[in-house]
Formats: sequence, C-alpha cells, structure tokens
Amino acid sequence: MAPILSGKRIMLGISGGIAAYKSVTLASRFTQANALVDVIMTHSAAKFVAPVTFQSITQRSVATDTFEFWHDAGRLRIGHVALAHAADLFIIAPATAHTIARLAHGLSDDLLSITALSYKGPMLLAPAMETNMWTHPATMRNVQALRDWGVDFIGPEEGRLASGEVGEGRVAEPEDIFEVACKVIGRGGPLDGLRVLITAGGTREPIDPVRFMGNHSTGKMGAALARAARDLGAETVLVHAPLSVHPPGGVSLMPVHTAQQMFGAVMEQLPRTDVLIGAAAVADYRPTRSSNQKLKKSPENQVITLERTPDILQEVGTRREEGGPGPRLVIGFAAETNDLEANALDKLKRKNLDLVVLNDVTAPDSGFAVDTNRVTLFERGGNREAWPLMSKDEVAQAILQRVVVRLGRLDWKGSQSRERDR
Ligand code: PMT
Repeated sequence: MAPILSGKRIMLGISGGIAAYKSVTLASRFTQANALVDVIMTHSAAKFVAPVTFQSITQRSVATDTFEFWHDAGRLRIGHVALAHAADLFIIAPATAHTIARLAHGLSDDLLSITALSYKGPMLLAPAMETNMWTHPATMRNVQALRDWGVDFIGPEEGRLASGEVGEGRVAEPEDIFEVACKVIGRGGPLDGLRVLITAGGTREPIDPVRFMGNHSTGKMGAALARAARDLGAETVLVHAPLSVHPPGGVSLMPVHTAQQMFGAVMEQLPRTDVLIGAAAVADYRPTRSSNQKLKKSPENQVITLERTPDILQEVGTRREEGGPGPRLVIGFAAETNDLEANALDKLKRKNLDLVVLNDVTAPDSGFAVDTNRVTLFERGGNREAWPLMSKDEVAQAILQRVVVRLGRLDWKGSQSRERDR
C-alpha cells in the first residue's frame, strides 16, 4: 500500500496507442491505493480500449469529449478543466509523439490537450512510440521543452514494439509508472531536501565462479524502507545486494554483491547522506580466497577458511565518534535468534547507532523473506517500543515517521511549490 496516494486525485490521460491497454492496470493500481482516478481518453485511445473499461475499474466518469458531462461528488459537471485543477497529479500514459508535440506547442484541440494546458500541478508522461519517432529531433526537442517546464518523464524502455521491431519506445510498465507517480506526488514532503541511504538484500561472498556464501534476505524490508523514504520526499539511494523483489522506482539504485562492495558504495555516499538505514543482511565472514575455477568433487572433505568482512555500520559509527562527516541519523537492524534484547542493545552501543530495529528471525511471520515483520525499537537514550505485527511497508512507514520526528520535520510545510513554472 502507498498511503501517499490515499485520497489523492489522479488525472489519467490516455492517448492513442496499443499501449493504452496497460493503463487499465495502472488505473486499477491507483484505485486500489485509494486514489480517485479521473480518466480522459483521446478519440484514438478509445479505439484501442473502451472507456467503459476504465469506468468499471475506477468507478468514476471517463471523458473523451470536450462538452461531455462528468459525475463528480454527486454533481453533474461540464467543467473537466475544474476537475483537472483539483488533481494532485496529471499522468499521461501512454503519451504518443502527437500528444507530446501538442503539449510542447501549447495546442488545445481536444479534451486531453485543453485540460493539460490549463493544469499547473505536477505532470508525469510515459511515452510510447516507434523508435524512429522517439529519436526524431522534433520529438527530442518537444520532450526537452516539457522537461524544461518541469514535466517528469518515465521511459520509454527498450523492448518489442507494436511493429514487431525491437527498440526504444515501449511504454514503461504500470508498476514502474505507479512507483514514480508516488515519488512525484511525495515531492516537498517532510524529508524534502534530505538524502536517505538504505542498504538491502543479502550479500554474496564467492567461493568459486558458481557458488557463494549467502543468507535468506530477499530485500523486501529494505525496498519497503526505500519506498517509504521516497514517498516522504527524500532523495533516496538503495545500495542493494541481489534482490528477490522488484526494485522500487524513483530511487537511485546501486547494485552490489559482496560485503566489501557494499562497504565501498556506502562509504562513497556517506558525505552526502543525511540518514542511513542498514536493513541489509551483510556477511560477517567471507572465504579467504575465491577459486577462479569451479571446485571439483574429491573424496576428501573440503575446508573453506573464512576471514572477517568490514562492518559497515560500525565504521560509520567510529567515524561519527571521531567527529568526521556523517549522517545525522543512523539506524541499524538486528536479526536475532536468541538473547534478542541483549544482542540488539549490544549492536546499538557497539555500532554507535541512534536506533536499532530488532526482528526475531525465528518467528514464522517476521524477519527474512516474509511480507510481515514484528519489530522492537531500541533508541539511544533508553526508549524501547514493541510494535505489533505489520506488513513490511507499514513497518517501513512507521520507521520513516520516526525519522521525521527525530529530525524535527513534523510540521514541515515543504520548500517546493506544487505548481510547475509554466
Ligand atoms: O530482506 P528481507 O527478506 O525482507 O529480510 C529482512 C531482514 C531480516 C534481512 C532485515 O529486517 C534485517 O534484520 N536486516 C539486518 C540483518 C542482519 O544481518 O543483522 P545483523 O545483526 O547481522 O547486523 C546488525 C546491523 O549491522 C544491520 O543493520 C546490518 O546491516 C549491519 N551490518 C552487519 C554486518 C556488517 N558486516 N556490516 C553491517 O553494516
């Protein structure tokens, strides 16, 4: 769930291309997140997908004609433009070359372009077209003009196109559009202007080219934290070991494999990081040597000698203690199987953390791989809070709310105007 979208009004414009069918999934995703979705379709879009499909999904009116009546809050209105003014975000997906050109030139010859021209809030376009149309200088110039006005773009991606050709021009996937929409709508939120770095996933320490030492982390907890930070307006960086989940959109991704690589990526980002959250399960040991060739079976037992990996949070803690540049807030996780509280408190102290989130990884509904977590927070200064079982998204949102409080951003009004300078 994305609480950032609950009660928000999304104006979803659909222009004419085969990719229009994907916007059904997008409309459904927004509706399920409790957003109010008003759909405007161009006449050619309505040839690809019937308006009644969107009506059924959103349970709201769908407009295709300039002089059509809308049902809104029990009233019959002709003012689609007024509805657009009430929108928190205007998305056009798919955005064809023609629609992009009309927007860039301020044309208002159909309902979609009139509404877009009179709208001043955040706008997100997901282009879809043949590669030659996308790379044409006219389209590139139009896209740049819109970018310069503050319009956001997602995609297009490489892939199979309607013509059967493979190239750049495929509309972004609905889930990715949804994720970037959350980011755009969250701009100016309480973490606006801050950089939050999150580690996620389980590191892999190579034994040979085909084997590694790893753990059960999927990256679900870390990805949820990244989404929550992004939705509060933070510039979010996710340093992640291999993930078993779709990486969050609207977040800078830094993929790594080993503890050493994760250490390097975090240290490189550290001077620009305001908040660091370590949700990754980082290997404490690695094989002293990794074979260049696949190890062969032999009758004898094999012994793998291990050495310590660098401890990322401990190094950050030491640098903070020495007064070096470092994050204002450092949060660690403790994945424990026994002596839960004692081990969590030891990590809080030894790694010089502001807060440690303890999860009992022996519980079937908590810790590795599941979608839920039951955590206890231990804050520096002695505060201790046991939270009930929640989804990982809810745990992440609650942790980020704690970050907002600790950074004194509770009454944050936002530094950015919601209106684009057009
Ligand atoms: O990814 P999921 O499947 O959703 O599972 C989530 C999770 C169980 C992995 C997550 O909630 C969690 O508990 N992450 C921390 C797991 C862990 O390895 O804890 P630890 O007790 O070994 O380490 C304590 C803290 O130090 C952690 O914040 C860890 O990221 C950090 N650490 C550990 C070792 C190391 N070399 N460097 C570190 O920075």
